[in-house]
Amino acid sequence: MRFSMLVLVILMVCSSTGFASSRSQRALGASVFAASGCSHCHSIRNAGGHKGPDLSGVGRRLKNDQMRRQITGGSRLMPPFGDTLQETELADLISYLRSCRDKAKK
Ligand code: HEC
Repeated sequence: MRFSMLVLVILMVCSSTGFASSRSQRALGASVFAASGCSHCHSIRNAGGHKGPDLSGVGRRLKNDQMRRQITGGSRLMPPFGDTLQETELADLISYLRSCRDKAKK
């Protein structure tokens, strides 16, 4: 009983200091996604474009470093964002995308 209280307190401290991926970090990431033009090519939950793959369930498929590589380096059909995004914006964006875990790809 006492142990589980301790775990709870540690979790609360972590999320309030931004140690763990927090709700506000994910919300910031969602606005980075919109502001950077990602939604021009990508849809999440039926909102956005279709030049790139739907990202509603991307958090199930890609790990943090795979997302980071794709976003900073781009690919043949996706521009690189390594020079335009701040490190904190990138972290928020990845935290948001990791939370996109819909099962069925719409
Ligand atoms: C001009 C269109 C375009 C824009 C803008 C764009 N992407 Fe992409 N993105 C693509 C395409 C096309 C792919 C498919 C893979 C490929 O061709 O490399 C892709 C792939 C991805 C993937 C990998 C998906 C998977 O399932 O493997 C992620 C994650 C991603 N993009 C995130 C982003 C983010 C975040 C932004 C904004 C910072 C962004 N993209 C902006 C076109 C775009």
